[in-house]
Amino acid sequence: MTNKLFIPGPTEVRKEVLDELTHPQIGHRTKEFTELFGSLKPGLKKIFCTENDVLISTSSGSGFWEASIRSCVNEKVLHAVNGAFSKKWASVSERCGKKVERIIFDYGKAVKPEVIDDALSKGNFEVFCMVHNETPTGVMSDLDVISKVMEKHPNVLWFVDAVSSIGGIKIETDKLGIDICLASVQKAIALPAGIAAASISSRSYEKAKNVEGRGYYFDVLELKKYYDKDMTPYTPSIPHLYALKKQIERIEKEGLDNRFKRHKEMASFAREWAKKNGFEMFSEEGYHSDTVSCIINNKKDVDFKEIKRDMAKKGYSIDSGYREMNSKLEEEGKNPTFRIAHMGDLTLDEIKEYTAELEKYWS
Ligand SMILES: Cc1ncc(COP(=O)(O)O)c(C=O)c1O
Repeated sequence: MTNKLFIPGPTEVRKEVLDELTHPQIGHRTKEFTELFGSLKPGLKKIFCTENDVLISTSSGSGFWEASIRSCVNEKVLHAVNGAFSKKWASVSERCGKKVERIIFDYGKAVKPEVIDDALSKGNFEVFCMVHNETPTGVMSDLDVISKVMEKHPNVLWFVDAVSSIGGIKIETDKLGIDICLASVQKAIALPAGIAAASISSRSYEKAKNVEGRGYYFDVLELKKYYDKDMTPYTPSIPHLYALKKQIERIEKEGLDNRFKRHKEMASFAREWAKKNGFEMFSEEGYHSDTVSCIINNKKDVDFKEIKRDMAKKGYSIDSGYREMNSKLEEEGKNPTFRIAHMGDLTLDEIKEYTAELEKYWS
């Protein structure tokens, strides 16, 4: 039996999308390919709310962490760190040989504008990087307020990891002025992992022209050269592109606004459900995510690791909290967390069915 995925990525992929992966193969230097690739552009731009290019890489989302840093930073980058993935991105920048400064927020807290403003005023940074939706903690930072800060620092590029938000949460890339907005497809876009997408502003391309050592695979200028010809520099995962085409059609059929609304409804149901069952949210009030709820397990006799094993026997693949974070919380004598993922193509009814099943473990 294959379990239905209720985890915060990879998410459940509907059968008609999975079926596209078996499409007969085509060469990547053919007319069929350029037609396929070109057909993806308008839909991706709508999902990212942008007129910028939305590049596709055959990698997971982390590939675009590396692409953005290697392509657009000569020396110095500022990272907001408020969770496991923003921490990792900062370390990737260091591994790429860049000078990194971190503004650290406690896990569970959002990125706050004042400290960023202060750091950018002092630091002579080329780029500011942050994660919009920290999947392990369920914290969604406010991009509107950060955007106001970035307006005060027009020479600094702004890169946003929207890995677990794009496709489920509206991010107005152009209105906000995000230079690189990057996403994995196996989260709210609900495709199998294997490709990633990122919107790139023209000033990011301009900056890249003056950066040495961009490499090849993740050089945004190399990707752009081929993007303009409806191609990729290398052989991409063509099955994923067929699946993406199908998924864009499905997303357009649902309507983007309806999709965002569905995510909000599922999120607010999950939060209410948590409260009704005597739990508290781990994420800071006012910054709860629309795609994943991180909840403190304050019930001493309820073990989500055991529940996870048992639920798997019933056909549900569920989350018992982000392992590294839970270990740290437990070491500190605090309660661990668990997450209700409500992203991608899951429906409110499916979330209701799954949470009703969970409740049986304590009621
Ligand atoms: C917020 C965030 N950023 C980055 C990543 C890494 O993405 P990928 O595994 O697609 O490289 C993840 C993965 O869960 C994530 O949740």
